[in-house]
Amino acid sequence: MAKFDNNFTDELRQRLSIVDVVSRRVPLNKKGQNFWGCCPFHNEKTPSFSVSEDKGFYHCFGCGEHGDIISFVMKSENVDFKTAIRELAEMAGLKVPEYKPRDPEQIAREESYVGITDRAATVFEQKLFDPIGAHALEYVRRRGFTDDMIKKYRIGYAPKNNIISNTFTNVKNDALMATGLVRRGEYGLYDFFRDKLMFPIFNAHGSIVAFSGRSLDGSEPKYINTTDTEMFHKRQTIFGFNFARDAIHRANRSIVVEGQIDAIQMQCHGFGETVAPLGTALTADHIAILCKSNRNITFCFDGDNAGQKAAVRACDIVLPFLRDNSDVRFAFVTGGKDPDEVLKSGGESAMRKIIDSATPLIDFLWQTINKNYIVSTPGGRSQAEKFLKSQIEKITDIDFRREIENEYDTRKFNEWHKWRKNKDNAPQIELPAIDEMTKKTLVYIVNTYPELVERYGEFLSGLNIDFDSEIVTDAKLDLKSSEKYIVSLKLNRYIDKLKNDRTALIQMALAGDSSAKDQIIKIDSDIASANEKLENLMNME
Ligand code: UTP
Ligand code: MN
Repeated sequence: MAKFDNNFTDELRQRLSIVDVVSRRVPLNKKGQNFWGCCPFHNEKTPSFSVSEDKGFYHCFGCGEHGDIISFVMKSENVDFKTAIRELAEMAGLKVPEYKPRDPEQIAREESYVGITDRAATVFEQKLFDPIGAHALEYVRRRGFTDDMIKKYRIGYAPKNNIISNTFTNVKNDALMATGLVRRGEYGLYDFFRDKLMFPIFNAHGSIVAFSGRSLDGSEPKYINTTDTEMFHKRQTIFGFNFARDAIHRANRSIVVEGQIDAIQMQCHGFGETVAPLGTALTADHIAILCKSNRNITFCFDGDNAGQKAAVRACDIVLPFLRDNSDVRFAFVTGGKDPDEVLKSGGESAMRKIIDSATPLIDFLWQTINKNYIVSTPGGRSQAEKFLKSQIEKITDIDFRREIENEYDTRKFNEWHKWRKNKDNAPQIELPAIDEMTKKTLVYIVNTYPELVERYGEFLSGLNIDFDSEIVTDAKLDLKSSEKYIVSLKLNRYIDKLKNDRTALIQMALAGDSSAKDQIIKIDSDIASANEKLENLMNME
């Protein structure tokens, strides 16, 4: 997290809940949006000390004291800044970085780089409206960009002909290269972006720090982005945030989509609070940026398999940021490939339906688990439990984590064990008894081939046969045929048992138990595969 080295206090404010910090000294109660307690800075009996989790501030209406987690620790414990930071870092499980004053030369360099990228953006903007950019302009208009949008997002066109290296001749090569706009080749500098539709990438303060270029001729890759530079770290930059910041505050949530065109179209069609990561998977830094305003995030993923995968990953990353007042949801695009397409075909209302019907994180995680593990089997349930546990452990708020555990315990009981519960009450149908002929054959096998007893002992002893009885059979099976005999018997008994279970389940389904239906489907496939095994066995030499 290089970016936070200079800004460690910001990181602490992000990681720690002020309610947690204050609660260690002052008991707090939630009333409305805020938490209240008796002010530790003056004597009082009725609480006038308020703490706002969202804003990260406390304020006393009695004595006027106010501040954030750091000033709280400094004042309430009467310690200096450094000590407070050390204590809070420990609470957050972070190491205090060595104090490094920001290099003034680096600041100057970055400022000059931003100057270059801004001027480059202006050149690209002009080229979009030159004859040389006609195909790019035609393309971007066809994608639903109005002139106002082109202006606001400073969309441009980078021609084929090394325009930056050729125009910016008065800029030092090193500086030009440091912006990522040009590279050094055998014959001098050449442009990184050529024949691309150009989307500037702004930092949180609205300065252009990088570009994303879309190919226009269908060539791959579809997008290329500036590689990381001193002023641009892809994993810490979230596209559209500079434009979305106010809307995120007003809407009291952010929306995260997969692509930058999606983010722009969302912002321009009623969802100003939308942002997108930049061609990388979502990172904890992205989430931390969004959580500065509030912890309410609706992820909106494409409706394909990749979207599902990305959602599971996002869930994993967002868990440590969850608080009991967070509202994190997952939506999947239907009726189009991505938000851009939905907005085009169905407009804002179609998109709003998708966002409004987003699944809360708790349910999403539960659905994921039930989909990815075969929870009708003990092994599947055990794997599912392990995964669930590993996810829940990521929640840092202890009380909240406990509540989540309880919630899932209830779900596990109601949904995973209900079938068992009901099955115990369901009429038990006995498996048919082993007939005399089979018994005799088994007695022969057991007494002739001890190695088979070793292998199938558990199954054989479950049959309740007296294997000490005298061998009376004419059958003379060799070792191989004997084994085949046991295995086929085992499979047949297993199929009988499945069929019995199926009968019980049908009764439950008829009695209105909707979960029984899924179990019947599962059992049918188990029966089919057991039958297949049996058939293969019989065909075996
Ligand atoms: P998609 O493949 O879903 O593209 O990639 P898209 O956003 O729908 O693009 P359009 O609408 O065809 O223009 C989603 C995001 O992944 C990144 C981009 O940020 C893109 O917006 N990406 C995709 C890349 O960085 N490189 C690529 O080659 C493809
Ligand atoms: Mn798209």
